[in-house]
This record gives sequence, structure tokens and C-alpha cells, in this order.
Amino acid sequence: MKEDTVSILRTFVCLNFRFNQCVTQKGEQNMSGQFVKLMCGIVLLGMVTGAHAQSDAVGSQVEFPSVAKMNAARPSTSVPLGLPEVTYPKDNPQTREKIALGELLFNDKRFSTTKEVSCSTCHLPEKAFTDSPLKVSEGIDKLTGTRNAPTVLNSVYATTLFWDGRSPSLEDQALHPFVNPVEMGLKDHQPILDIIRSDPDYRKRFKAVFGKRGKAITMTEVTQAIAAFERTVISGNSPFDRWYYGGEEDALTEAQKRGFNLFVNEGRCVSCHVIEQTQATFTDNLFHNIGVGINDIQEDVPKLAGEFLQAEATASEVDIQVLTDKRTSELGRFAISRNFDGLGAFRTPTLRNIAVTAPYMHDGSLETLKEVVEHYNNGGVTNEGDPVNDFLSGGIRPLNLSEAQIDDLVAFMESLTSPEFAQAVENK
Ligand code: HEC
Ligand code: HEC
Repeated sequence: MKEDTVSILRTFVCLNFRFNQCVTQKGEQNMSGQFVKLMCGIVLLGMVTGAHAQSDAVGSQVEFPSVAKMNAARPSTSVPLGLPEVTYPKDNPQTREKIALGELLFNDKRFSTTKEVSCSTCHLPEKAFTDSPLKVSEGIDKLTGTRNAPTVLNSVYATTLFWDGRSPSLEDQALHPFVNPVEMGLKDHQPILDIIRSDPDYRKRFKAVFGKRGKAITMTEVTQAIAAFERTVISGNSPFDRWYYGGEEDALTEAQKRGFNLFVNEGRCVSCHVIEQTQATFTDNLFHNIGVGINDIQEDVPKLAGEFLQAEATASEVDIQVLTDKRTSELGRFAISRNFDGLGAFRTPTLRNIAVTAPYMHDGSLETLKEVVEHYNNGGVTNEGDPVNDFLSGGIRPLNLSEAQIDDLVAFMESLTSPEFAQAVENK
């Protein structure tokens, strides 16, 4: 039995690899029936081995915004069902006090010019750490940026941050919103340090956590605390996890199970929104152009891209440009990699808790999950028949799914909601 298990898993990994390849090379349209059968095998396998999977089940009664607190209370080695282990940077180890400090900083509105905007203004715990239903985020004085706020949930697993991956770590990422003119609006980080160095509660906490006071406290400590908090903001244990990894046969409806099959077969979704044998982050952490946004600036791309390259903007200028100029934003990964492959490409987002975080895509341009599936079904255009853009990923082409199959795929994505957020879906 054990031998069989291992060999089936091996075949799966290998097939999945080939599957990815054929998808990215605009290859064969037909995935063989064997693959379908294998996937069924894997599902069964999930049920058999489910008993061995991590089962740190999170109670469904938990009220948010306690995800972080709940997670912080867990022993550091266990994660909710369906998630990978969390790794922590050597130079920023987790401590309970640091996490609590990070949460305070994340919620502190004094770190914006209007004293009205904190990180949680756009990453609200009860909205699965997004600002749903906003299309693009609103910062100080209701100024709008160009992009839809991604969730902070599970961002600890991301290998780069932001839609275009322009930030390498949670610590680095946390520096930017404070000084972005359409987010928190500060000219520099000094006002934050002034508050922290004089506020009695922060003084006490920074001393306890970092052993530092006064001028010794810098943005390094501030962003380390925020990142430590964010590393506890993880959530799994969705109905999908309980079915696939936990072996609970009736955790999914029949429609959701059909949707899963479409997700890994005809839909080809799994080639970018990755599901592995013991865990699923639903992202490959890579950048793809799937035909969102770029279509609007198609004709201007050569000029825009050329101008952008000439300008040789610094990292912080790029940060400001992509969030304040819609057309630069649509260049996507190109603005960072300066490589034409990156034109109109964005990082594959996770699909966990996707039912809570509408609207969708980097520009919030698709309102419902059904619209998203239709976009894919049309081969990377939102309106059927529109021409596809020149830089479209090879993995995107018409799927010929029926109306019923589209509904099943949507149903599957609705099974990715963690218990902490189930209420948020009902309230919609
Ligand atoms: C005005 C709304 C707003 C505020 C305030 C804000 N964010 Fe964000 N956040 C966004 C948007 C929009 C993005 C995506 C921007 C992009 O990709 O270019 C984002 C991206 C992120 C990401 C990356 C997630 C991913 O998957 O790539 C993290 C982490 C994050 N924010 C944390 C924070 C922290 C920490 C703060 C406070 C210091 C903060 N945010 C303040 C709107 C906001
Ligand atoms: C070639 C890789 C690739 C494939 C295949 C793919 N996706 Fe995506 N998906 C992405 C990328 C990249 C984005 C973000 C694009 C953007 O914002 O411009 C995305 C975005 C999404 C979103 C919106 C997420 C959010 O937070 O806004 C959903 C939902 C989604 N995909 C579902 C699917 C489904 C369902 C399938 C299969 C029918 C699929 N994807 C196939 C790469 C892919």
C-alpha cells in the first residue's frame, strides 16, 4: 500500500510537470483520459492518507479579527490543514510580544498624513484582509490608486510581494505604503519614528521586544514587527482542504468535486494556481499575462515601455508610478524586470478565500468569479471575440467549457473559504 502510494504520487508529480510544460508551450490541446483517471486516483489517495495529514483543525466558531491571534496561539510548528510550514527569517525570529506589537502598528492610523488610514484600512481582517468590494484601494483623502488590494492572508508563502513582485520580503514591503502618495501619504518615515519614540506604550514595547529605545529604534524594527505579525496571518482548513487533505468525503458538494476536476484538467487552472500533494498555496509565484488590463493600452505599449526604460526610475519612484499612473501600472512585471516577457504579466494570486475578496484581478476589473471563468473560457479576453493581446501567456487559450462547467468551477472556488471567513460570505 505504502509503495503504491509513493508511486502514484511520483507519477502525479511527473505528469503534473509535463502538463505544465504542454500548457506553457501552447502544446497539445487534449489531456489524455489517463490524467483524468490519475486525478481521481489522487483524490482517493487524499482520502486514504488523509488521516496522516496535519489536523490542527481550527474551530468554525472563531470570530475574526482573531485569525492572527488564533494562529499566534498555535505551537509554532503546526499550520492549519492544507498549508505549507511557515519559515521565518533568521534575523527576525517570531516572539509573542513582537507579533502583538506588529498588530498594533498594522492598525495605527497615526502613521498617515490624515491620521485616518492604517494598513488595516485596506487590509481589513473581516474582509479576509482586503478592502472588498473596492475595485482599487482608497488611501488618504479617498485618493485612489491603480490596483486592487491583494489579501495579506498567507502572503508569508509568497516569494515576492505586490502584483508585479517588486518587493522581496514582508519587511521591505511594509516600508512602502507609508510613503506612497495615494496610500498613507507621508513624505518620509520620520513622523512614524517620532510617534514611536515618544508614545509611552510603544516605548515600553520596543524596549521589551528589541531592547531598544529612542534613536536606536529605526524602520528596521518597525517593519520587522509588522512582518512578524503578518507571518501569523495564515488561513487554511477550508472545505476543500478537509476533503482533499483531510479525507472528509462530504466536505464538498458534487458540483464542487466536478469543479475540482475541471480545475486540474480541462480548465488547466492548476498549472498556475498550484495544488500539491500535502498542501496548496494556489500560486506558482510566477508572472503571467492572462489578458487583463493590458488590452486597454495595447497600442501604446511600445511607446510606454520605451519611455519607462529611458526614465531609469529608482525603486521608490517605480513604486509611486505604478500606483499613481494607470498606464504604467498595466505594464505589469515589465516595470520591474525590464524584460519584454513581463509585459502585462502579474503574479499569480492565491485563490484561498477568493469568495470573500471580490472584485478580482490586479485592477479589480472583474466583478464576479463567474466573470473570471468566462474570461479564461474566452481565451484571455473579457468580451468574447475581442482580439487577444500580443503578450498573452501560452497557458491561456479558449477552454470551450459549457455553462454548467463554468458554474462548477465557480462552486469549486467557493470551497476555498476558511472557517474564519465563512460568515463574511454569508453576509454578502
Ligand atoms: C490605501 C490602501 C492600502 C494601504 C493603506 C496599505 N495597503 Fe497593502 N496593498 C494595497 C494595494 C493596492 C496593494 C497592491 C499594490 C501593488 O501590487 O502594486 C497592496 C499590497 C500589499 C501586500 C502584498 C500582498 C501580495 O500578495 O503581494 C502586503 C503584504 C501589504 N499590502 C501589506 C500592507 C501593510 C503592512 C500596510 C501598512 C504599512 C499596507 N499594506 C497598507 C493597499 C493598501
Ligand atoms: C497561465 C497561468 C494561469 C492560469 C492557467 C490560470 N490563472 Fe488564474 N490567474 C493568473 C494570474 C497571473 C492572475 C492575476 C492576473 C491579473 O491580475 O492581471 C490570475 C487571477 C485569477 C483570479 C483572480 C484572483 C484575485 O485575487 O483577483 C481567479 C479567481 C483565477 N485566476 C482563477 C483561475 C481559474 C478558475 C483558472 C482556470 C480556468 C485559472 N485561474 C487559470 C494565472 C493563471
